[in-house]
Amino acid sequence: MTPPTALVTGASRGLGAALAAALAARGWRLVVDARDAGRLAGTVAGLPAPDRVTAVPGDVADPAHRAALAAAVGDRLDLLVNNASDLGPTPLPRLADLPPADLERVLAVNTVAPLALVQAVLPALERAGGTVVSVSSDAAVEAYPGWGGYGASKAALDRLTAVLAVEHPGLRVYAVDPGDMATDMHRAAAPDDEDLPDPEDVVPAFLRLLDDPPPGGRLRAADLLLVEARR
Ligand SMILES: NC(=O)c1ccc[n+]([C@@H]2O[C@H](COP(=O)([O-])OP(=O)(O)OC[C@H]3O[C@@H](n4cnc5c(N)ncnc54)[C@H](OP(=O)(O)O)[C@@H]3O)[C@@H](O)[C@H]2O)c1
Repeated sequence: MTPPTALVTGASRGLGAALAAALAARGWRLVVDARDAGRLAGTVAGLPAPDRVTAVPGDVADPAHRAALAAAVGDRLDLLVNNASDLGPTPLPRLADLPPADLERVLAVNTVAPLALVQAVLPALERAGGTVVSVSSDAAVEAYPGWGGYGASKAALDRLTAVLAVEHPGLRVYAVDPGDMATDMHRAAAPDDEDLPDPEDVVPAFLRLLDDPPPGGRLRAADLLLVEARR
């Protein structure tokens, strides 16, 4: 039987790497990316069955790279996880000090690229009746000083995701806030935060979207994990 296929962006470390490992352990075929080719190759080498993983190094904001991802996916795609994300400049500046070029870059990576990737793989997703997951953030809905550019990009991603869900009832489309995790991104934003969950702790929330799919919409991983714990 042909294994299901997932495309996970930003899979060389953090949440993307943890998701890729969990899907690979379930026997999925994977297409993964990240900009740092060496680090991506190292992560793929450590996955179960690396021969079922296609690594396509590149930047999700680059249209040619997105076309290469779509080509690697092929005819059927069961799961797209738009996980790669740009935090913007650190230390996180107030909006008054956020250079417009940095905001444009954050929007290009976090908002425009995920939609463009959905567009690039839409026939393959529709053929499989697939699932789209946009990795969001609480910064999309809360006004934290310094998080305005990133938060705006995730709020716009949430809106795109919600509209995609109603425009494509044959797909399952979710925006998921994973909550705070001990990753490079979080360390860059808030170096003093301690005792955060590892991304691996959050993965069961994402797997639940596959195993027992809730209605599409904006979800918090913490809520999905609570439901999982009660089962
Ligand atoms: N960590 C948290 O506390 C937290 C909280 C809420 C939401 N989130 C969200 O969770 C998701 C994962 O975050 P994380 O904390 O795991 O991040 P991370 O540790 O910084 O990892 C980011 C991954 O994305 C890749 N990446 C970054 N920019 C890319 C680009 N332009 N094109 C392709 N790949 C790119 C990185 O590799 P390269 O650098 O080599 O490209 C890396 O593999 C993000 O959507 C983030 O917004 C995180």
